[in-house]
Amino acid sequence: DRLQYEEKYRPQYHFSPDSGWMNDPNGMVYFEGEYHLFYQYYPDSIVWGPMHWGHAVSEDLVHWNHLPIALEPDSLGYIFSGSAVIDWQNSSGFGKDNKPPIVAIYTYHDMDAEQKGEVKYQTQGIAYSNDKGRTWIKYEANPVLENPGIKDFRDPKVFWHEAENQWIMTLAVKDHVSFYKSNDLKDWTKSSDFGASHGSHKGVWECPDLFRLDDHWILLLSINPGGPNGGSATQYFIGDFDGNKFTAIDDSTRWLDYGTDNYAGVTWSDIPQSDNRRLFIGWMSNWDYAQTVPTERWRSAMTLPRELRLVENEKGKGLASIPVKELDKLRDIEKAEMYNRSEIVTSASAITLPSDKLEINMQIDQGNTGAGFEIIFENERSEQFIIGMDSASNKFYMVRDKIGGKAFSDKFDGTHFAPRVSNTPIINLRIYLDASSIEFFADDYTVVMTEILFPEKPFNQMKFESNNSNLTLNSVVVYPMKSIWHE
Ligand code: FRU
Repeated sequence: DRLQYEEKYRPQYHFSPDSGWMNDPNGMVYFEGEYHLFYQYYPDSIVWGPMHWGHAVSEDLVHWNHLPIALEPDSLGYIFSGSAVIDWQNSSGFGKDNKPPIVAIYTYHDMDAEQKGEVKYQTQGIAYSNDKGRTWIKYEANPVLENPGIKDFRDPKVFWHEAENQWIMTLAVKDHVSFYKSNDLKDWTKSSDFGASHGSHKGVWECPDLFRLDDHWILLLSINPGGPNGGSATQYFIGDFDGNKFTAIDDSTRWLDYGTDNYAGVTWSDIPQSDNRRLFIGWMSNWDYAQTVPTERWRSAMTLPRELRLVENEKGKGLASIPVKELDKLRDIEKAEMYNRSEIVTSASAITLPSDKLEINMQIDQGNTGAGFEIIFENERSEQFIIGMDSASNKFYMVRDKIGGKAFSDKFDGTHFAPRVSNTPIINLRIYLDASSIEFFADDYTVVMTEILFPEKPFNQMKFESNNSNLTLNSVVVYPMKSIWHE
């Protein structure tokens, strides 16, 4: 019964839980033709509560099948965020019938201990599956990593380090990360710390991810609060990792996404060498208001899956986030609308949108005007969502306050800024609009803004405005997007 997915604000091509509360993506791993997505889940309510791992699988990163809950809280605590790997060499001994097990590594959060005022309430546990993730067995000797006496000690992300022939765990520890290593996923030895004097420290460090990308190592690190536009956000470091120690190339604080709603994102493990992409997904919300947004049966969705690439441009090295190519098949080509420069060159030209679930590709030519512009989505209630470029500061921005019904939070309103990475007069933009979200990619996908929004009515018009009529809109292509639930 898919009818429930007609609800107001229900994302039509983003992953959301059928019902209940969801936060971080967890344990993403690829195995035997399936992309697994687990997630922080509380099935009994639409606010955060005793954490489980919800579960879904996909063959194409686009269409998802909901599966039964994978991990439930037990006597050691709630099941917080973590990762999953394929133990190809059966180092853990959990394998069966010559098939490698999937091993999940997660944080136990002992609520009783926390409430008693104890400090050591977060430990790490493991569980394994011998049937493609359908059923899970928790390791009887959990926890595998005891708490050393620090309250925030969580979100293990594990990978196999070829050169060192060992498992590496990256763990968020309050204001830094710690690296541990192991031969069997059960015994862990600490090797080093990173970060106390790097990056942003306006909030607690959570959900790290360390992986190799071309000639460098990338360390993703979520922080809450302290994001560039308030609340939760994800920073990253570029550096080197020798199997024991991470060394950053510089002291810069870099943000993966300047929008308010891309948090706790990490990447897929065990993508086959023949594909070799570094695939990312994030939680499309912000702890500032996640628990009060106006949905009723479920709360939260994931971002679109993105491929991360390391690029070099005018601002130096940085990450590009490229929506995965598999999404292209959702384009309803027959209903696509295309406009070229002869049709749309003037201020305030309005386009009637063929749908409110869209992918839009746009090319703007500033010429030598140096002028800014605004793209305005509007509905019959005159609510607006604006994406703009301010030429004086060379920043993109998003305006979320011209939409009604924001009483659920006083932190939701505002204009959010993202510095441009490029100065070229030709500006290529890609926008994805779904029932309650917008994702914006510019400057070769190096500037990203992901935001959620809750308009009373669907947007049915898009306007383009500039105070300089010599700025031209070279082309606009609007694709209605097919629903992943009703196809
Ligand atoms: C991040 C986070 C993680 C934690 C989980 C609990 O959003 O706070 O650090 O493991 O959520 O649900």
